[in-house]
Amino acid sequence: MSLANKYRPKVFEDVVGQRFVKKVLMKALDRGEIPHALLFSGPRGIGKTTLARIFAKGLNCELGPTSKPCGKCRFCKEIDEGKSVDVIEIDAASNRGIENVREIQEQIRYMPVARYKVYIVDEVHMLTTEAFNSLLKTLEEPPSYVVFILATTDPHKIPATVLSRLQKFNLKPHGVGDIVERLKYVSAKEGISITDEALRLIAERSSGSLRDALVLLEQASIYADGTITGREVEEMLGVVPDNLYASFMEDVLRGDFKRAYEKVMDITERFSPQDFASGLVRHVERRLTDESWDIPFEERVILLKMALDMETHIRQAYDPYSWIYYDVARMCAFKRVINLDEISRFLGSLPSSPPQKFPSPSENTPPSPVDPIGEIERENPTLAGYLSDATIAKEDDTLYVSVSSATVANRIRDNLELVKKAYGVSHVEIKVGRKENLRDLFGEIKEDWDSA
Ligand SMILES: Nc1ncnc2c1ncn2[C@@H]1O[C@H](COP(=O)(O)OP(=O)(O)O)[C@@H](O)[C@H]1O
Ligand SMILES: [Mg+2]
Ligand SMILES: [Zn+2]
Repeated sequence: MSLANKYRPKVFEDVVGQRFVKKVLMKALDRGEIPHALLFSGPRGIGKTTLARIFAKGLNCELGPTSKPCGKCRFCKEIDEGKSVDVIEIDAASNRGIENVREIQEQIRYMPVARYKVYIVDEVHMLTTEAFNSLLKTLEEPPSYVVFILATTDPHKIPATVLSRLQKFNLKPHGVGDIVERLKYVSAKEGISITDEALRLIAERSSGSLRDALVLLEQASIYADGTITGREVEEMLGVVPDNLYASFMEDVLRGDFKRAYEKVMDITERFSPQDFASGLVRHVERRLTDESWDIPFEERVILLKMALDMETHIRQAYDPYSWIYYDVARMCAFKRVINLDEISRFLGSLPSSPPQKFPSPSENTPPSPVDPIGEIERENPTLAGYLSDATIAKEDDTLYVSVSSATVANRIRDNLELVKKAYGVSHVEIKVGRKENLRDLFGEIKEDWDSA
């Protein structure tokens, strides 16, 4: 059993946070003033299902209705094991239609075995309009022994007519402190050894969801040998430590391409290119307002734009490493050749997609009427992927293709006839090299790199 399921609270006292909801539900049970239609809303993994089940136990426990279900009687046990015939859980995301609501209405006519028949409807906002209309009638006059607990992550999608029939509870995402405490409790019970830093990193990454936090804790305990440390959680979550970015940016600002690039290669031994790039974006974003950073604001904006470009390039590329090479070079070059006067021009002209031409075909090549890549995709999707990632220009009867690696070039050579047919040419020139407009924009970076 997963940790998240194993540590699902069975009584109100064990539910973390959600104090207001707990209080109202417990009071209702103890006074015997039972609401017949409740709505639990809030993001995933914060206790909606958990509280619904505990409330159902409170209703049906042999000692009940009570805010302290015994957990030992037949009814409590059946509910804990998910076997109670009186507590019916329905996922509205996969049972959206009016026929599903009709089925509930059929069943409702039969008396419960215990005290109440409880319907827990998850993701209720997914119901169709028809289904909602039909449900509305039941909500207006439910049998006295029926309780509906509707749960949703998106309450705005529920029709107002339905909302007005419900007693509404907004459940809150958990704070980092609450999550850390719960993780500590679970680790202690499980004999998992974990540092405070690791706990904090997991809690911060869980965006308020205790379920997500427990899933991450479980992963970390499998990932780490012995004590789970901050470093291991960083690796697992793909959080590149901030000091690595800081020193990378120093190289960039000195225009030291060789060192900057080597640093990235070191980092990407431990982290994926995607993690590196999105972390870089976050790093530069944070430093936009860093007063101790002695570069002009405009330059920070440009660096941010370049980091965002890198993130996009890497996400879309088949060969992220050639983009890293290009994008890091671009960042290093900018500081050396661009002055502030050129910045606005630069921002305006910055290409966000690969350059379209190589070597320099005439500007007015007519656009081809068909979509050659689409045509190739039908026969060979991988090839189409390589081509859409390449720089392609057509001049007269020749297709110029610039690709990032020899492997890709060979793949294209293997399928030359298909390429020729799709583009309607009889020659194909393939060149392996870095994206070409680099030099146009920033000068001879490659020579620099070779001579460094
Ligand atoms: N408030 C909470 N207190 C303690 N554990 C919780 C809480 N919320 C979520 N959890 C943990 O996350 C798991 C999933 O919670 P659940 O109630 O199903 O979330 P949802 O809000 O998505 O219905 C539980 O089994 C439990 O381990
Ligand atoms: Mg749920
Ligand atoms: Zn009981």
